[in-house]
Amino acid sequence: MDSPSPESIFLEDFGQKVDLTRRIREVLLNYPEGTTVLKELIQNADDAGATKVCLCLDRRNHGTESLLSDKLGQWQGPALLAYNDAVFSEEDFVSISRIGGSGKHGQAWKTGRFGVGFNSVYHLTDLPSFVSGKYVVLFDPQGVYLPNVSASNPGKRIEYVSSSAISLYKDQFFPYCAFGCDMKSPFHGTLFRFPLRSADQAASSKLSKQGYLEDDISSMLVQLYEEGVFSLLFLKSVLSIEMYEWDVGMSEPRKTYSCSVNAVNSDTIWHRQALLRLSKLTDSNDSTVDTFSLEFLSEAVNDSHPQKRTDRFYIVQRLSSPSSRIGAFAAKASKDFDVHLLPWASVAVCISDNSSKVM
Ligand SMILES: Nc1ncnc2c1ncn2[C@@H]1O[C@H](COP(=O)(O)OP(=O)(O)O)[C@@H](O)[C@H]1O
Ligand SMILES: [Mg+2]
Repeated sequence: MDSPSPESIFLEDFGQKVDLTRRIREVLLNYPEGTTVLKELIQNADDAGATKVCLCLDRRNHGTESLLSDKLGQWQGPALLAYNDAVFSEEDFVSISRIGGSGKHGQAWKTGRFGVGFNSVYHLTDLPSFVSGKYVVLFDPQGVYLPNVSASNPGKRIEYVSSSAISLYKDQFFPYCAFGCDMKSPFHGTLFRFPLRSADQAASSKLSKQGYLEDDISSMLVQLYEEGVFSLLFLKSVLSIEMYEWDVGMSEPRKTYSCSVNAVNSDTIWHRQALLRLSKLTDSNDSTVDTFSLEFLSEAVNDSHPQKRTDRFYIVQRLSSPSSRIGAFAAKASKDFDVHLLPWASVAVCISDNSSKVM
């Protein structure tokens, strides 16, 4: 009798797998809806070193003739656009494609840590996408809208510059032509597009049963404006957050609100980046208390009575270098608990009388 050959042994695929849609549902349970999603986007932009963030409710309906797949037509409607002026590195592309695997370990000055915050955008959409540098990326965790996707391969990255993607698939890529992105040359920034999940799409979605209307995004932007100063207070790089609405038939979005650090100078930047500086010092026993004041300018542009107001805050941050005694303790803790810590704490107090500062 012949002995069995190695080829006769069938290796059945049997690896451990994660159900991505289930993992995303779990993430959404831990992230409240509302401005939390916007704050996660702002925080990621800040970690990436961006100085400007623009959030835009795009009310337009885009063409559906030249798309990567017919099924994508239903995502050409109203969307939230989120722009910032920092570009993804290759490491960033890898990191955003993993859930729960932040590439920011060992970079203690960055706020992101757990590699999940971005996924809060699945509150709004089933099909998040973005353009950064020379790439456009589309995620489709359910594997139902993009061509040639599957549970094990739930997204696409396209090098749009050399592939002339915009001339072949004009309707697909035209919605990203905003905030300086032309889909022809590499984009020196990042532009996310989150087409809103309609009630019909929510009914069959495996990610969320919650639909979003344009008005929901509009109110979310107003709410962020009202909390505006507080979202900027402890950031390191971002100096301004602007909000826009892009109305049907218009060639440009119109600015509705903005919130920015006023009178920026090298001193302001030096203080805001103290944590970044200190985390790089290895041979100092520094443990310092840093104090400074910051003035914020908030503007509401959309009303018939445009409003401006300034708020001044006094900020106190206590920082310890990783090599100081307390720093060494934290470094040990970070090894034990797999959390990278830099001991620091910040508090801020408003020192302006708002009622008298409304201009
Ligand atoms: N300019 C940018 N704007 C927004 N996100 C960016 C930018 N550059 C890189 N990113 C990436 O976005 C991802 C954010 O993912 P997130 O789930 O919030 O995890 P983290 O805990 O690492 O912040 C990170 O992988 C980060 O590298
Ligand atoms: Mg983050």
